[in-house]
Amino acid sequence: MTTADTEQRTKLREQIRQILNSQEQPTITVLSSLIAVQDSIHYLPDEAIKETATFCGETINEVWSVASFYTNFRFAAPGDKTLDVCWGPACHVLGAQKILNSVHSALEINEEGESPDRKVTMKYNTCLGACAQGPVIAINHHLIGKQTPESAAKIARELRGLDG
Ligand code: FES
Repeated sequence: MTTADTEQRTKLREQIRQILNSQEQPTITVLSSLIAVQDSIHYLPDEAIKETATFCGETINEVWSVASFYTNFRFAAPGDKTLDVCWGPACHVLGAQKILNSVHSALEINEEGESPDRKVTMKYNTCLGACAQGPVIAINHHLIGKQTPESAAKIARELRGLDG
């Protein structure tokens, strides 16, 4: 590990300690602590598990068992931008599967997650709330409707800084 890595980890641990200590709810638990960290830095790095264990007086195993039980927690840093693809019933009827396929291909992934360059995090969504505009995608929570496989792939490539 380089000196820069060590400094970055030390900084991250300090940031997590601050987050844990600033929780305002009356009952502080392992779960509330993990939620507070993820709300703030959008994922749970190893440092979050360790610092939460220390903060709550629990073992790392106990904290890890809580963190791994809930599917909403993520353990890898998200990409710079998010791209949600709706695959809810209305969008499905309007061709969401083809949109998904083209976005997967443009991002070089086979499921939810980060593109290899970590520029984009792709997520499935069960309804983005604009069914009449389907198929719908969202970039950083900004909805874009009436997508075709070509338009969605172009957007995904542009998010990676590649030619549309
Ligand atoms: S089902 Fe896609 S926006 Fe509602």
